[in-house]
Amino acid sequence: MSLALKEYLAAKRKVVEEYLATLLPEEGPLAGHYTALRYSLLAGGKRVRPILCLAAAEIFRADSTPCLPAACALECIHTYSLIHDDLPAMDDDDLRRGKPTNHVVFGEAEAILAGDGLLTLAFELLATPELAAVVDPGAQVRIIRLVAQAAGSAGMVGGQSLDVAHEGKEVDLDTLRLIHRCKTGALITAAVQTGAVLGNADDEAFDRLTAYGDAIGLAFQMKDDLLNVEGTQEELGKAVGSDAERQKATYPALLGLEQTKNELEQTVRQAIACIEPFGERAEPLRQLARYIQERRR
Ligand code: IPE
Ligand code: IPE
Ligand code: MG
Ligand code: MG
Repeated sequence: MSLALKEYLAAKRKVVEEYLATLLPEEGPLAGHYTALRYSLLAGGKRVRPILCLAAAEIFRADSTPCLPAACALECIHTYSLIHDDLPAMDDDDLRRGKPTNHVVFGEAEAILAGDGLLTLAFELLATPELAAVVDPGAQVRIIRLVAQAAGSAGMVGGQSLDVAHEGKEVDLDTLRLIHRCKTGALITAAVQTGAVLGNADDEAFDRLTAYGDAIGLAFQMKDDLLNVEGTQEELGKAVGSDAERQKATYPALLGLEQTKNELEQTVRQAIACIEPFGERAEPLRQLARYIQERRR
């Protein structure tokens, strides 16, 4: 990772974490419930989705700070998806972000509710009047709609359903791509699109960023599959080898490691080509695409 990207990620993670920390009250009658939300939300994820949103907005605007409510909404949805993904009824995992999973600490009922709370909070953030400083009401509704579509049954939720339904089954490459695009790609694409709308991107720029988001979203899950085979629990903060154990539909299972890496390289190149016309202002997005390919956690 280049020094510039390292510094960029650290700076963005800091503002995202600071904003996230303001969202959940530590006192009052619901302190117990909020403790379960805070446990997962502030557990130190990579914050890739909010950072992609901010980086996309920065192609068009100098200061992305007023975009933080929308960027952080994406992290709330992502964290909810992880809490539910780890439940015994789904992937049944005990470790996430280097800590025992939400349901291990708080019990299944509270983990389900923590996820529900984070999902709902996300839409409260997307609808906040604070965003009026950045976009007009029509654009704000457009963001709410595109995030809802990406998070719901046509996107992440539907992808999770396909993922579970295909455990132990043979899949072809088209089906695998569909699963990965839905369960992981859709929300990543929506993060980039949200940044584009917050930057008042024109239609051509929006379409380019959508194509970039689609490619890095797919790449992100290919790499997640690879790390489940080649990574370490220590670096990842979650179990390795679990995909093979549960006979998940993954790229390495279907294509093998080498071909998966070739496809990943092609997909990342494709992503970078989509944003070529943006020049220097898209340099963070270019480096983020390479980071998604090269990351070790
Ligand atoms: C893990 O996402 C789950 C997938 C969608 C592949 P991340 O790798 O972004 O997890 P965190 O947020 O850094 O913990
Ligand atoms: C990631 O699924 C997709 C979502 C959580 C929505 P995985 O089950 O492949 O992700 P990890 O490996 O548990 O993080
Ligand atoms: Mg899963
Ligand atoms: Mg999982």
